[in-house]
Amino acid sequence: MRILFLTHSFNSLSQRLYVELSRDGHDISIEFDINDAVTREAVALWRPDLIIAPFLKRAIPEDVWRAHTCFIVHPGPRGDRGPAALDWAVLNGESTWGVTVLQAEAEMDAGPVWASVEFPMREARKSSLYRNEVTDAAVSAVRRALGRFAAGDFTPEPPSGGGRWRPACRQADRGIDWLCDDTATVLRKIRSADGQPGIRDRIGGVPCYLYDARREPALSGPPGELLACRHGAICRATIDGAVWIGHLRPAGEGPDFKQPAASVLDETARTLPDPGGDAAGAEAIRYEEANGIGYLHFDFYNGAMGVAECERLLDAYRSACERDTRLLVLMGGPDFWSNGLDLNQIEAAESPADESWRNIEAINELAWAIITTEDRLTVSALQGNAAAGGVFLALAADQVLARSGVVLNPHYKSMGNLFGSEYWTYLLPRRVGEARAAELTQNRLPIGAPEALSLGLIDAHFGEDGVDFSAQVQTRSEALAASPAYGEMLEGKRRRRAADEAQKPLAAYRAEELKRMQLNFYGFDPSYHVARYHFVFKVPHSRTPFFLARHRIGGMGVPE
Ligand code: COA
Repeated sequence: MRILFLTHSFNSLSQRLYVELSRDGHDISIEFDINDAVTREAVALWRPDLIIAPFLKRAIPEDVWRAHTCFIVHPGPRGDRGPAALDWAVLNGESTWGVTVLQAEAEMDAGPVWASVEFPMREARKSSLYRNEVTDAAVSAVRRALGRFAAGDFTPEPPSGGGRWRPACRQADRGIDWLCDDTATVLRKIRSADGQPGIRDRIGGVPCYLYDARREPALSGPPGELLACRHGAICRATIDGAVWIGHLRPAGEGPDFKQPAASVLDETARTLPDPGGDAAGAEAIRYEEANGIGYLHFDFYNGAMGVAECERLLDAYRSACERDTRLLVLMGGPDFWSNGLDLNQIEAAESPADESWRNIEAINELAWAIITTEDRLTVSALQGNAAAGGVFLALAADQVLARSGVVLNPHYKSMGNLFGSEYWTYLLPRRVGEARAAELTQNRLPIGAPEALSLGLIDAHFGEDGVDFSAQVQTRSEALAASPAYGEMLEGKRRRRAADEAQKPLAAYRAEELKRMQLNFYGFDPSYHVARYHFVFKVPHSRTPFFLARHRIGGMGVPE
C-alpha cells in the first residue's frame, strides 16, 4: 500500500512503524504536521491509499479525513480519549493499558476502532513505556488494522461506551506535596510527566521541572529536604524515604532544557554531601558478574553521554577488564544503548565548541579502550535504541547483538552535517563495506534490527522484550565463553587487530575524523551549532526534510 505518515515528528514510535511497515512491503512517505495546507499538499502529491498518524498533536483537516481513511494511533485502550492518555495511566497506577487504532473523525479520538492491543503496565517512566510497550503494541495494532483495511470486509467498530474523555494532565493534577507524599507517590507523579512536560516544582528557591527519578533505598531525612548529591543527581527526602532526581529543566530564568540536576542548582548542590558508591539510586553504571562473564550496565538518561558519563564509564570498563572473565558484555540501558554526545550539556556549556571537543575526545577514549581490548572477547548487547555515535560505539565490541524491536540511526548527518568520530570510519566499513557505509551515513534513515543484521551491522537479533533479550544474552554469552572455539576466536581477533593496525593505525582514523570534527565545531559553517540548538530547544519543524518527504522529491519545483 501507498501510505502517508502524518506526524508531529519522526519520533521513536514513528520510526519503528516506518521500519516495520516498510519491511512488510508498504511504500511510505512522511510529512510533518506543520499546517493544514502542507498536509493537503502532501496528500495531493503522494496520493496515498491510507494515511497513518503515529504521533499527532492536532486534528487532521476535515476534507482530508473525509476523502481518505486516516488511522490515528492512540496510546490508550479502546474507549480512552484525550491528549494525555499515558500520563493518566501512569499517574493512576493502571495495571493494564493499550494502544488503539482509530479512524479520524470530527470528534477527537472518538472515531470507529480498527484494532486495539492491550499490555500489562510496568513501574517506569512514561517515556520508557512509550518507547517499549506502547511502541510494540502500536506495531501489532497497526498491522492488524492494515490487514483488515486491505481485506476490505471489516467494518470498524464504535469505541465502547462512547469513550471516556480525559483532559490534558495539568500541573495541579500531579504537583508534589513533599510534606504529604510518600516515595511511591512522588515517583509516580514524576514518571507520569517524564520525558515531557515534567513535574513543576521548586528546589532551593529555583523553579524547575523534575525528571529522571529513582528510589533511594537507604537515606532519609525531614520531608522535602535535600540530602545528598552524586554524579550530578540530587537526593530529596519524602515522608518515608528519599528519591534521586537526575535531571531538571529550569522553569524560570535560564536555558529551558534538561540538564543534570546539580548543574541547574549549582550553589545549593555544592554544599550537599556525596554518599559515595553506596547510593545505588544515583548510579547509572552497574557491573555484575555471573559464570565468568562480566555485564556492564550503563543507563544514562536519554542515552546521552557527556564528558563525565564517558569518563565514569571508561573507569568502569577498565575495572571490569581487571576482573578474571572471558567475556565482557556492554548492556547499555533498558531504553537506550547510547545516543552519543550529550547535546544538552554541550548547549549549556560556556563554549559549546570546546565542550563538543572534550566530549568527542572522551567518547573516543572509551571506543579506543573497547577496540583495543585483547585479553577477552567483548559484546555489545542493545536492549534499547542507539543513534549516531552511540551506534558506532557499539561496533567497537567484537560482537553486536540487538533486541529485535530496536531501531538504529547509524548516521550523524542530521545534526548539521556533523562528520562524527568514535572511529566510525574504521568500524563501519569493516562490517558493511565502503558502499553500504556511505549509504547508511548519507541517507539518514532509521533501520530495524533485521535490516541491520542483513547489512552485517549487527551479528544477531532476538528477544520479545527487554527481559527476554537479557536472558538470551546471558545464555548466548555463556555458550560463547564455554565454546571450544573461544581460544581461536580470541587469537583471530588479536591477529586481525594487529593486521588492521599495520595497514592503518587507529590513531590515523581518529586524527582524520577529528580534523573534520574540528571544522564542524570551530569552522566557518555553523550548521552543527544551529542544528544542535534546534534539537535541544525543540524548535518546531518548519518543513519536512526531503529524505523523509519522498512525495516532494522531483515535484512542486523541488529538484531531483
Ligand atoms: N543528547 C541529549 N539529549 C538527547 C540525545 C543526545 N545525544 N539524543 C536524544 N536526546 C533526548 C531528546 O532531546 C529527547 O529529550 P526529551 O526527553 O526532553 O524529550 C529524548 O532524548 C528522546 O529523544 P527523541 O528525539 O524525542 O526521541 P527518539 O526516541 O525519537 O530519538 C533519536 C531519536 C535518538 C534519533 C534523536 O533523539 C537524535 O537524533 N538524537 C541525537 C543523536 C546525535 O546526533 N548525537 C550526537 C552526535 S554523536
